[in-house]
Amino acid sequence: MTTFKKPGKVQGLKSSKKRTASSRQWLLRQLNDPFVAQARKEGYRSRAAFKLLEINEKYKLIKRGSCVLDLGAAPGGWCQVSKTIVGDPGVVIGVDLLEIDPITGVAFLQGNFHDEQIQTTIIDMFQGQKADVILSDMAASSCGMSDVDHVRLIALLEAVFQFSFDMLKPGGSFVAKVLRGGTEHNLLGQLKQSFSKISHFKPKSSRQESSELYVVAQGFRPKKENDPRAIQDGMMLEGERE
Ligand SMILES: C[S@@+](CC[C@H](N)C(=O)[O-])C[C@H]1O[C@@H](n2cnc3c(N)ncnc32)[C@H](O)[C@@H]1O
Repeated sequence: MTTFKKPGKVQGLKSSKKRTASSRQWLLRQLNDPFVAQARKEGYRSRAAFKLLEINEKYKLIKRGSCVLDLGAAPGGWCQVSKTIVGDPGVVIGVDLLEIDPITGVAFLQGNFHDEQIQTTIIDMFQGQKADVILSDMAASSCGMSDVDHVRLIALLEAVFQFSFDMLKPGGSFVAKVLRGGTEHNLLGQLKQSFSKISHFKPKSSRQESSELYVVAQGFRPKKENDPRAIQDGMMLEGERE
């Protein structure tokens, strides 16, 4: 099975006076990042692949034969890792705003996960099956204001949680990117009602200076009344009665 090994140190940087300060900084970081070199060596499309390897090594969520939905899949590192683990009997479907180069045995859908039509298409693609694991590495590009980034990421997490009621098997798990500080209080309460275990995990391969971490929700126990849509409907009815 594919496992996570922390890579060693890598290469230096050739300087160029033509580069802007920010592109030079980005290049320096790429060249000095052992995970970037290791990803290239092992044929992964992104260094993010190592984050999922670490997550799965710790929590053992994806197994041979699992059905996996990967949200925010481009350029495809998590899909590569998932497909290797699930093998031929498993299913991997990746969704992203961006186009993704094909990976044998992985189905892709291009579109915005917030779009209702995209969610319906995902359900159709699973052909009546549900996912054992929903992964979300989705992140809107940073606008430079950490509060706004945080709110956008929480909106994505809420959408993934809600979609679990349509697409996740009882007993299934989801993994989603959040920002430092973890999951927002209200949402954490809702997750706790619908999953038997909630953890937060910062993989070693996640850049230390980055405020990202992952919420890992295991043991889905869906109840209609805990579906965020039912909670919203209930609140609206309450409002009408007042
Ligand atoms: C950090 S990258 C994912 C890297 C990926 N896990 C890998 O291993 O290669 C985040 C991705 O989320 C996607 N994304 C952000 N918001 C999205 C949305 N609303 N719907 C679909 N994809 C989204 C972005 O286009 C971007 O490709």
